[in-house]
Amino acid sequence: MASKARRIAGVVRPPGDKSISHRVLMVAALARGKSEISGLLTGDDVKTSARVLRQLGADISPIREGVVRVSSAPLTAHRAPLNCGNSGTTARLMLGILAGQRFVTTLTGDASLRRRPMRRVTEPLKQMGADIKEKGDGLPLTIRGGKLRGLMYTSPVASAQVKSALLFAGLTGQVPVTIREPYRSRDHTERLLAHLGLGVHERDGAIVYQPGSASTIPGFQLSVPGDISSAAFLMAAVVLADQGELVVENVGVNPTRTGFLVVLERMGAHIERVNLRDEGGEPVADLVVRPATLRGTEVSAAEIPTLVDEVPVLAVLASRASGDSVFREVGELRVKESNRLELIAANLRVVGAKAEARGNDLYVTGNARAPQGRVETASDHRLAMAFAVLGTLAGSNVQLSEKKSVAISYPNFFRDLKACFES
Ligand code: S3P
Repeated sequence: MASKARRIAGVVRPPGDKSISHRVLMVAALARGKSEISGLLTGDDVKTSARVLRQLGADISPIREGVVRVSSAPLTAHRAPLNCGNSGTTARLMLGILAGQRFVTTLTGDASLRRRPMRRVTEPLKQMGADIKEKGDGLPLTIRGGKLRGLMYTSPVASAQVKSALLFAGLTGQVPVTIREPYRSRDHTERLLAHLGLGVHERDGAIVYQPGSASTIPGFQLSVPGDISSAAFLMAAVVLADQGELVVENVGVNPTRTGFLVVLERMGAHIERVNLRDEGGEPVADLVVRPATLRGTEVSAAEIPTLVDEVPVLAVLASRASGDSVFREVGELRVKESNRLELIAANLRVVGAKAEARGNDLYVTGNARAPQGRVETASDHRLAMAFAVLGTLAGSNVQLSEKKSVAISYPNFFRDLKACFES
């Protein structure tokens, strides 16, 4: 468990952005030529994408810190089912890529992933002409890609995974795709494709992919920024500490991902953004964070896509703020790596806070008592990390049902959290 010291100091670099890492690996595997990627996340989910791409014939060097090399060849069929492990991003984005391949593939995943909905992706892919056999709304399923037709689609959910799968289907099938979503979700796929000169743009609030004259993607070099969703846990620990400051270096600050910063500032914290720069089409900055006294807030439905993975840690912060907080329209959290909506509320109650899921909204009331109790993470990395932050409070006694799941997105989380309090 993390140190109970309450003074923060030092400089940390969060691991590579998970969303961007998946996309960069996939696009490098589709490119013709050699790519060199630095700063990739070395977490299990990204290793899963690399393994699946290798099974389809891509040559990818081991996923480790430093440079990862990808030399691609046209993707080829793999006889056995491709196991997407715990990774929703791998499964959904690969469906888009496979929709443009003229062979049959079966996708499966671990027990958590097999419970997660896939129709949000398979329905529009079928409209494009992919042949998909599925038993219910989820994995395992079998897809035969082939000749696709263009698509104009209005997604019922604001999901970057849906949007990216459809853009990848457009790219691999060389057909135009137009997507509308209820609220703008993270736009890493759009930025990456545009950065590589592929025809993606926004028109009247819709995202449009138009196949260009270049039907091949050249190999590229790219550096992946640090993950704001991982940095958020360390930043939350800083905000709850008594003294000191932490510099979090090299964080991606794409506005479709920075809702955490916006809400944290509304709750009373101040985060300085310094050294703003561009990295492969993505804005990057160093963030300076200090302890703060927090007040409750209302997080609107429109803000949710910009902080969807940060709701667990924001709810933990809300449980330490003065007054009430509400997160509107967070029903999507029921279908993440766990039923996060119910588990956030149940675990906050276990450690002595007041929290409740009512309909699709999450209500949390702040208190100042030392949190005590055993938290059920359900092997969900973001629940483990969010509640570990609560365990840094003076007088707290928060036990996690397991800690291993942090390897999905932040293998060195416990080391980095401890270091913040020790420097
Ligand atoms: C992701 C999109 C989000 C997010 C997930 C990663 C992505 O999911 O929760 O951790 O990389 O596109 P949805 O698209 O289901 O909202």
